Amino acid sequence: MNFASDNTSGVCPEVLEGITTEASTFDAAYGLDNSAAQLQEKLAQIFERGVQVYPVATGTAANSIAIGATNPIWGTVVCHELAHIQVDECAAPTVISGGVTLDPLEAAHGKLTPQILQNRFYHRRDSGVHSTPLSGLSITQATEAGTVYQPEEIADLCGLAKANSMAVHLDGARFANAVASTGSSPAELTWKAGVDIMSFGATKGGALAAEAVIVFADIDCEIVERLRKRAGHLLSKQRMFTAQMLAWLNNDTWLTYANHANNLASKLGSGMADAGIQVAHDVEANMVFAWLDPATHSALTAAGAEYYTEARMGDLVEARFVVSWSSGGRDVDDLLAVLPKR
Ligand SMILES: Cc1ncc(COP(=O)(O)O)c(C=O)c1O
Repeated sequence: MNFASDNTSGVCPEVLEGITTEASTFDAAYGLDNSAAQLQEKLAQIFERGVQVYPVATGTAANSIAIGATNPIWGTVVCHELAHIQVDECAAPTVISGGVTLDPLEAAHGKLTPQILQNRFYHRRDSGVHSTPLSGLSITQATEAGTVYQPEEIADLCGLAKANSMAVHLDGARFANAVASTGSSPAELTWKAGVDIMSFGATKGGALAAEAVIVFADIDCEIVERLRKRAGHLLSKQRMFTAQMLAWLNNDTWLTYANHANNLASKLGSGMADAGIQVAHDVEANMVFAWLDPATHSALTAAGAEYYTEARMGDLVEARFVVSWSSGGRDVDDLLAVLPKR
């Protein structure tokens, strides 16, 4: 019953096979190999247009490079207060970009809205050269709260951002779960809605370590290449990373696993609600956030359930349960069986 994180899961067989096949060959280093072009082509199919793809090993690197490539070093990127870039990246976006700062905003259920963004514009004091301009917006899809943005919601945010000369970045560490959840196409959830650049994550979805910066906007990509090298993420055996992503994308494996995780999370969330537990956010991807009383928390822990605890409210603790590509239906049933009967 390991629901601690999708990072506590292992590596899916398809990805392992992809690495094994690639591992038995020789090819050029630093992304000048055949699989780099194949990945570019595969992602162009998936996103229904030409894209520039830059593989890296971590989501933190992808986010930091993407933000650095689309903002001036004196710029500020608006994000949710729970955004991974804000709370979990040790200021890497600022360091790797060379100075871009973040402006975290509070918003319900992990989702920014045009009104919240507009409010920020309204209340911000702009003192010209003395302050940093709001140059970018970063949203996470699926969000850190396990919710998802619909294409129209992204389009509305992007429209407002663009009207204020801001570039839009999308942190897609769990993009597969968002695609599976919304049923919308990758294109509708990104560039068609106005997203300029994204971090595309495969690691949580079953890869060993495979993330990529995908560029949609018409920018000079030398900056992406240079920032990637400076960040130490131009991988000498990059083809071992592209092989992972290709294997994960082939035959819609990524969406099959994401659907599996989303469906189990939905079952877990409904089961908890049926047991009278307050579920904090709609379960729209592969995570369930629930307020547990001390007795339930102790019973689950004693039964061997693993999950992270986040906030506290009185004697209730907010617990985060993440369902991964490799979680079994049995794990969910076992966990639900421990909950107090109503
Ligand atoms: C929303 C989000 N973005 C990005 C990441 C990437 O993190 P890492 O640098 O550990 O690969 C994570 C991982 O937890 C995440 O949850």
